[in-house]
Amino acid sequence: MNREANIINLGKVVSVRGSVVDIQFDENLPPIYSLLHANKGDIVIEVLAQLDVHRVRGIALTPTQGLARGMAVEDTGGPLNAPVGKGILSRMFDVFGNAIDGQAVPVDVQRRSVHRAPPPLARRSTQSEIFETGIKVIDVLVPLERGGKAGLFGGAGVGKTVLLTEMIHNMIGHQEGVSIFCGIGERCREGEELYREMKEAGVLPNMVMIFGQMNEPPGARFRVGHAALTMAEYFRDDEHRDVLLLIDNIFRFIQAGMEVSGLMGQMPSRLGYQPTMGTELSGLEERIANTDTGAITSIQAVYVPADDLTDPAAAHTFSHLSASIVLSRKRASEGLFPSIDPLQSSSKMATPGIVGERHYRLAQEIRRTLAQYEQLKDIIAMLGLEQLSPEDRNVVARARRLERFLTQPFFTTEQFSGLKGKLVSLKDSLDGCERILNDEFKDYPESALYMIGTVDEAKEKVKTAKPDSKDSSEPIAKPAADAEPKAAPEPQQKVEHAADADES
Ligand SMILES: Nc1ncnc2c1ncn2[C@@H]1O[C@H](COP(=O)(O)OP(=O)(O)O)[C@@H](O)[C@H]1O
Ligand SMILES: [Mg+2]
Repeated sequence: MNREANIINLGKVVSVRGSVVDIQFDENLPPIYSLLHANKGDIVIEVLAQLDVHRVRGIALTPTQGLARGMAVEDTGGPLNAPVGKGILSRMFDVFGNAIDGQAVPVDVQRRSVHRAPPPLARRSTQSEIFETGIKVIDVLVPLERGGKAGLFGGAGVGKTVLLTEMIHNMIGHQEGVSIFCGIGERCREGEELYREMKEAGVLPNMVMIFGQMNEPPGARFRVGHAALTMAEYFRDDEHRDVLLLIDNIFRFIQAGMEVSGLMGQMPSRLGYQPTMGTELSGLEERIANTDTGAITSIQAVYVPADDLTDPAAAHTFSHLSASIVLSRKRASEGLFPSIDPLQSSSKMATPGIVGERHYRLAQEIRRTLAQYEQLKDIIAMLGLEQLSPEDRNVVARARRLERFLTQPFFTTEQFSGLKGKLVSLKDSLDGCERILNDEFKDYPESALYMIGTVDEAKEKVKTAKPDSKDSSEPIAKPAADAEPKAAPEPQQKVEHAADADES
């Protein structure tokens, strides 16, 4: 085979259908995943199937304009490869590993095949450690795992990208490892903006970006995730560093696979998805693993078509993750950002053994309160708040205050929200929730808890607010001496504040 000898293995284009190209090789049929070049390397094709002893079928990773029947195609003798090495840090690449940040070609790099097997079971390590994000609702209710995989699920425009960017902002500064951002099939503008933001924030020296955005052919979007993982594996295995891998958006990988599969002539499966979706996704997700040399923590945005979480793409992705954060359109429309729905989101770290007794108990109590409020909503809509029993009205008041306390101003949205971003430690978040559950903020207007950092800011907010609103005139700041937390606080009778429902 030409892989040993220096013979150029040439083939001839037999047919071109969009991105799918059939090529005839009279001798040496290239193996699957071989990369072929046509038109002096302008057109790149990856072999995906061997049709018979003389013909292969491949998918183009570049546009196929100018490709015609009979044209010569050269077998490069190897698969698609990605650059790895110290030289790739602070750079931005496309799927072929070409630098797209307008700077010189990176030096001090080797190239590695993007097709690699996941690490064997024996090399995987398991520890359970919490990864703090500084975002209240995540740290309290859906704690992330260091070395785990977390998904941000949501339909279009509910705030996945904003949340992901905020997490990058909060974590990248105090994380010693390397961060890799992989943009799959999203807007080019977002990639460019992120690059500039990271540059301004000064975190680029420990970051690599790689993009296959929505303007690129399906083949490129399908492979860019593999290229990003090859880079992540290099840092984990060769440099023994921890890696934070951010993917926006993993659904676009599945979608690209669907396009490729359709073009290759495979019969579609459920809802038009490719029959090989599960295999393709696990081929990628299983490579995101922790070994004895380092951990790859990944956070992935997952677009949910038509807000339907039972969509096969979303359902398949769920099963790979250790934490699923579901963003809800309803909360986004109410202005409750981050629009995380705590009752649909879950994390396997939220157990007493890992987060501790107190945190676990508080999280359960918060969930219970929010779930009760959810159930009461129907009654409130039909009969009004007045028809509820005093206990239920108390639950509603508590739940609404919790909901507002779990919103948070973001650093990444400072320009358009006008509020300064806040980072809140897990301890402060837990304290705040506990004090709200203990009815300490019962006499505060709900709006005092909206878009604040720690719960003490509510007191300042009330103080600075004009004293004309009837209930906030004397906020009766009871001393915060709730040293002895009550799991289920005694319901009290004064509940007129539950009625200022449209406060915020
Ligand atoms: N935390 C937030 N605070 C304020 N506005 C937000 C927040 N998150 C999202 N938004 C609003 O929602 C819009 C869409 O968010 P984006 O993250 O781009 O959605 P997605 O990636 O889910 O399609 C943003 O442009 C912004 O106006
Ligand atoms: Mg987005």
